[in-house]
Amino acid sequence: MIQLIKGFKDILPEEVALWQQIEKTAADIFEDFGFREIRIPMMERTELFARSIGQDTDIVEKEMYTFADRKGDLLTLRPEATASVVRAYIQHKLYTPDPVRKLYTIGPMFRRERPQKGRYRQFYQINAEVFGVASPYIDAQLIIMLAVLFERLMIKDIKAHINSLGCPQCRPAFKKILGDFISSKIDRLCTDCRRRKDRNPLRVLDCKVPACRQAMADAPALTDHICEACREHFNTVQEILNTQGVEYILDKGLVRGLDYYTRTTFEIQTSALGAQNAIAGGGRYDRLVHALGGPEIPAIGFAIGLDRLVEVVLQQERSLGRGPDVFIAALGEKSRQMAFDWSCDLNRDGISTEMEFADKSLKSQMKRAHRLNSAHVLIVGENELAKGEIILRNMNTKEQHALTIEGLVKSVKDRIRGDL
Ligand code: HAM
Repeated sequence: MIQLIKGFKDILPEEVALWQQIEKTAADIFEDFGFREIRIPMMERTELFARSIGQDTDIVEKEMYTFADRKGDLLTLRPEATASVVRAYIQHKLYTPDPVRKLYTIGPMFRRERPQKGRYRQFYQINAEVFGVASPYIDAQLIIMLAVLFERLMIKDIKAHINSLGCPQCRPAFKKILGDFISSKIDRLCTDCRRRKDRNPLRVLDCKVPACRQAMADAPALTDHICEACREHFNTVQEILNTQGVEYILDKGLVRGLDYYTRTTFEIQTSALGAQNAIAGGGRYDRLVHALGGPEIPAIGFAIGLDRLVEVVLQQERSLGRGPDVFIAALGEKSRQMAFDWSCDLNRDGISTEMEFADKSLKSQMKRAHRLNSAHVLIVGENELAKGEIILRNMNTKEQHALTIEGLVKSVKDRIRGDL
């Protein structure tokens, strides 16, 4: 039998309801914050990712699904969405007449990482990107928006980590200081880090090899060397978060795995997922629009790892996925025919139903209704038909009501809507 590709996965119907609910909750909140959806292609020219994410990053060096198409063009399955959203923003001149745009997009990304719990080769992200606002208010607003989403999903056990990565004014001097530190530890570092030391020393801070982490544990921190303007920006972000009552941790080691960041960076981390502890990450990328051929327009954004978010929700044992509004347990052929008509009428009116078509006992049908997480069960047997009364049972409260056959669909609808 042909199996799935390693690191890829099917999302089965039982779980899809939860995915949809999380996606809808995020989209609703983002729309309230002024974001609009953009849909971008799954594949781009390789150069777009190499130039934006950075040649020396793990993603570009080792993880991209890149191939030459039949004409020899070098294409890549997107490892992230920011580069594509920036490309679309420039290509369609979304900065005219007003440079301020708030865009979100949801979909699969591809990175050939080593698969483990919470890390897949095809994974899903919910991305939000804001263009044209340099103010620290927007940095804080994105973190607040994430806090609102996690609160609405009732996710506990999460912490916002924030840091500043400075700007092209202050970073070169820091790179020199960091370079000297790295030289003093060079014997303890992996070959990647040795190679990256001169070209891109910040990447050494992001290496996942335990020996490198240990060697770099007391490396100098960028936040201690950022310029006055960057410091002021970062302080204001913190003041706004304080005023809004959003808790955060100042994390000097948070450098992120992509090269395009400037100033504020952040991650939402959880202790619930083991090693893969980031459920969302993002930051400012004020230079990227210009670097990819657009005007000088600042930008900031984040991506939520949807697979990880779903895992956290499932771990909290609160399935947000719902079953049918009503399961119709029918006993005998005549009841089944009537049940089928009622189920069609209820479906037409927006009530979801499920019913048993085989000749099964009431006990086994009730079991199935339970398994499907049905909110109500309508019991239609020969006795009920003879009496002209059908039982509607609320599976949560266990309350039962006898409804007359006359006008049944309407009374079921009224009861169910009343219970919702
Ligand atoms: P990132 O940190 O590479 O940032 O990814 C964001 C989130 O995607 C991570 O925090 C994680 O939850 C999830 N993620 C990443 N890789 C995997 C994987 N292999 N399996 C499962 N989940 C994964 C970005 O992608 C930036 N584009 C975010 C951004 C948007 N920055 C500014 N705008």
